[in-house]
Amino acid sequence: MSVVPLKALPIEQLRERSSTKWRTYPPDVLPMFVAETDFALAPAITAVLSRAVELGDTGYTPPDPGIRDAYVGFASRRFGWDVDPEGLRSTGDVVMGIVELLRRSIEPGDRVIVTPPVYPPFYDAIPEAGGVVERVPLVRGGAGYELDLDGIEAALREGARAILLCSPHNPTGTVHSRASLARLAEMAEAAGAVVVSDEIHAPLTQPGTAFTPFLDASDAAARVGFVVTSASKAFNLAGLKCALMIAGGERHRQVLRDLPAEVEWRTGLFGALAGVAAFSPESDAWLDSLLATLDINRRLLGELLAEHVPGARYDMPAAGYLAWVDLSRVGLGDNPAAKILREARVALHFGPAFGVEGRGHVRFNLGCAPEVLTEAVVKIGALIEK
Ligand SMILES: Cc1ncc(COP(=O)(O)O)c(C=O)c1O
Repeated sequence: MSVVPLKALPIEQLRERSSTKWRTYPPDVLPMFVAETDFALAPAITAVLSRAVELGDTGYTPPDPGIRDAYVGFASRRFGWDVDPEGLRSTGDVVMGIVELLRRSIEPGDRVIVTPPVYPPFYDAIPEAGGVVERVPLVRGGAGYELDLDGIEAALREGARAILLCSPHNPTGTVHSRASLARLAEMAEAAGAVVVSDEIHAPLTQPGTAFTPFLDASDAAARVGFVVTSASKAFNLAGLKCALMIAGGERHRQVLRDLPAEVEWRTGLFGALAGVAAFSPESDAWLDSLLATLDINRRLLGELLAEHVPGARYDMPAAGYLAWVDLSRVGLGDNPAAKILREARVALHFGPAFGVEGRGHVRFNLGCAPEVLTEAVVKIGALIEK
């Protein structure tokens, strides 16, 4: 049965929203920066949240809101991954989870590897946990961006104590292979280092690409890794505050059990209710429809850039709705998004925020109607012709 692509909400309705995407810039700016999407919620989420509002069900999150079991089911259906619910705990959001796990895995001043260009808050999360950022940039292989495993091995040999992995990778949409994750785990184990794998974009892996949860990559990965994830990117629930921390090996499960109760108390009730609905089988068809729209948009962006922004370089993301575009040959300077915002009135994410590798780059958000994406690229094209 063919999947019907999900339709985005009309732009006039979106402009009534009060979230960051719609309230950061004036109304003449087309917002395509922060990772929020332009779709109505999955029906099961709307139903559960509407009922909670009717009931005034806005108290504290109960000890077991069902999010762990819901994720166990989702991971099994979507990734073929068998997760033991004993190895899961919730918290407010993915970045909080990363900070808490790193804080308990390193000593103050320890170096933590990141793989730029990468999600900018990683550069703040590591110092917040007491660590120091160690950069080992992605490299471009035959199949696009990939981890520099030799570089990571050298950094571990020189004393780095942890790796903060982005899997799938924001901003390139790279889905790391099982083999590379297994090798990473082996190297981490040999060095006595920990891997924290941020898998928030995993539910958005496109059909045809296999996503490997880090803890499922090998026995060593299960021992050295933590996964932090959430329904919040795929289902647009970022404001509701619910994420999951997952441990495979016994030592790391003990770390989860030893977390202060306060870490779990940060889980938002609406986030947990919405997350249970998102991860339930009832929302699978909605997610497939969203992926169909994102597939249309990731292809459309390539066509639009070829026509309106010749010189742009872009590899389609294999997961997620973020697109990393190299405009360094287009003549818009080191931070093209600044000029595009000022003169074309399109808000993209600033490339240099992802690390020095982001010089000359921009990040698009494809979680919108194809018409909106078209309008944005046409406006950027017009700026270049001037
Ligand atoms: C890789 C990555 N991690 C974490 C987040 C933020 O997640 P949260 O709001 O749950 O902290 C984002 C948001 O775009 C992201 O791209």
